[in-house]
Amino acid sequence: MRILSLPLVLGLTTLVSSRTIILTNDDGWGASNIRATYKALKEAGHNVFMSAPLNDQSGTGGTFILPKTLTSDQDSDWGLVKAGQPLYGYDTDDNHIWHFPGTPPSAACFGLDYVLPNFFSNITVDLVIAGPNFGTNLGPFVFTLSGTVGATYFAVGRGIPAIAFSGTNKRSSYLTLTDDELNPSNIYAKKVTEIVNALFEKAGDNPRVLPLSVGLNVNLPDVGTDSKIGCTNPSFKYTRITGSSAITDKLVYNATTGLFKYGDYISAATQSCINGDCTLPDETSILNTRDSCVGSISAFSIDYDTPTELTKTVENLLSGVL
Ligand SMILES: *[C@@H]1O[C@H](CO)[C@@H](O)[C@H](O)[C@H]1NC(C)=O
Ligand SMILES: *[C@@H]1O[C@H](CO)[C@@H](O)[C@H](O)[C@H]1NC(C)=O
Repeated sequence: MRILSLPLVLGLTTLVSSRTIILTNDDGWGASNIRATYKALKEAGHNVFMSAPLNDQSGTGGTFILPKTLTSDQDSDWGLVKAGQPLYGYDTDDNHIWHFPGTPPSAACFGLDYVLPNFFSNITVDLVIAGPNFGTNLGPFVFTLSGTVGATYFAVGRGIPAIAFSGTNKRSSYLTLTDDELNPSNIYAKKVTEIVNALFEKAGDNPRVLPLSVGLNVNLPDVGTDSKIGCTNPSFKYTRITGSSAITDKLVYNATTGLFKYGDYISAATQSCINGDCTLPDETSILNTRDSCVGSISAFSIDYDTPTELTKTVENLLSGVL
């Protein structure tokens, strides 16, 4: 749904088009990054609905977990929902801010399939935004693992354009968020709004801001008070997900404790290019220094099939059973 509205920001001379956005994340509805972004998108004139997990769901990827109870005997993260209170619902001060005790894909779905149909005349969603995450989400290993990216590829699978945003700042709640222009949450919120508005502007009258089955993975560098080089207004490079800097994980055993930890694993598989533009830099290489003021934007598709040549190669390998 699109409504023409006058720009709220002074200095803009053209009409901006207001779009309907579902905003989710994996860090929880009380995270400073999602709250700053909600505010910035609203101030830009968009019709924003937050439909985010009640609690931290980092690392849950595309899992679709639903609540089994209506209340809990524990307070939620940051004490926002007290023990015994309903686990899903909206902020009493703002009926566009909803929380749901599920994973990022199910929280996004709560907005799409419950909140909008039942409370907002089933308004059409133009874009799903996830994040900005606390911590970058770079490369194919993290792609499937990240709840931020999980909500995004889920939404793209539903046919809705979606963008994952991830920053480098540390987990904090909106309760400590101020209007400080150097606060990384506020800078990220501004950059999200700029990117989203640029896409909407380019789309014009086209209701689809990104092609069917396509989403974006955006990573942002250290900014504001986190930046050693005074980065407050990062620029962006168009990137790909796999590439020479993309790593995966290995398990490292500690004989003293008998426990395990993660280790980096350099893999020819995550470095390979079999899809897309192989001349693009990989997103990990853009973000792997802490002293750059450049972010990455990678386009992905939810068509996980192999490209034609490889499909034929594999079909040939299967000739004994096909
Ligand atoms: C909401 O809209 C969608 C898409 O237009 C439609 O498929 C669905 O049936 C609608 N749901 C309700 C409850 O009206
Ligand atoms: C194994 O764990 C112990 C206890 O935490 C630690 O002191 C030691 O450095 C670890 N060893 C290795 C090889 O990481």
